Amino acid sequence: MTASVTNFPAYRGRRLRRTSWIRSLVAETHVTINDLIWPVFVREGINIAEPIPELPGVYRYSSDKLLEEVKKAYDSGIQCIAVFPCTPNNLKNETCEEAWNPKNLVNRATKSIKRAIPQIGVMLDVALDPYNSLGHDGIVKGDEILNDETLEALRKQALVQAESGADILGPSDMMDGRIKVIRDSLEAKKLKNTLILSYSAKFSSNFYGPFRTAIGSLGNLRGDKKTYQLDYCNSQAALRDVALDIKEGADMVMVKPGMPYLDLCRLIKDKFKVPTFAYQVSGEYAMIMAGIEKGFFDKDLIILESIACFKRAGCDGILTYFAPELGRILKSSGN
Ligand code: PBG
Repeated sequence: MTASVTNFPAYRGRRLRRTSWIRSLVAETHVTINDLIWPVFVREGINIAEPIPELPGVYRYSSDKLLEEVKKAYDSGIQCIAVFPCTPNNLKNETCEEAWNPKNLVNRATKSIKRAIPQIGVMLDVALDPYNSLGHDGIVKGDEILNDETLEALRKQALVQAESGADILGPSDMMDGRIKVIRDSLEAKKLKNTLILSYSAKFSSNFYGPFRTAIGSLGNLRGDKKTYQLDYCNSQAALRDVALDIKEGADMVMVKPGMPYLDLCRLIKDKFKVPTFAYQVSGEYAMIMAGIEKGFFDKDLIILESIACFKRAGCDGILTYFAPELGRILKSSGN
């Protein structure tokens, strides 16, 4: 890309930055509420909103409370949510059967949300970590996270989630071959319209800590996820995994974490030209909130900037815990 710029003073870049109206006229990207997916946490119980200390402003909701919050979010313009379960420890084991229980927490929550608000998009994670007593995303044997045995579990989990009404399945564990297995079994069951948003470029990251606390998997996890999630030194490996996921039937792909990985967003969007998402993960949210609480940042301005960068990097959409705040911020700025 060559910038068509003459010399100073014929070109004065500041002319296009002088007033608010001209800046808006020439803005190359915009954040709108339609770009956002709101991740939420569900827990057992009734009438509970349990704060998560690492994530100020984020709660684990009982299903009834979650429905109330999702209704409010939908009324404020949020069109899609991603629901994550905090599974009680006594339902976790090494074989992870709870993952494909049609009556598990997340499937019940999905049914109740889709019944009450059929127009909202619901995304569910296809991964075993909320159900695994060993905290990993795959079936563990000794020191190994088994790939092909995990695929069979994911196949069962994905079908039950789609049958519960999930609109988007988000395979998030970086097992090889998972998209093909899930797509084939959806087709076999005539579930033709279920979308797959693959966590294709998901890195083994230190930014997931607060999420693992939120779903209660941190205490169980032994070791790390480096044998399946991507090494953060690499981008070519990420491109290979994205290519494979698209070939296997992913409709959309995701980069995760978000802000430290914007280079991947741009590479993927330019190369594959498919709907590309980024997940501004729990650690990013926690960092920004800590800065706001310390008075380092203006809350609304820092939130907006932290999301705008994803649009500039080529993303079509962003998963962010800031979605409800952004609903308020965008409304007050007239967007
Ligand atoms: C697990 C999963 C993780 C997140 C979403 N799905 C954590 C992990 O891979 O350990 C992280 C989200 C966040 O940090 O906000 N399958």
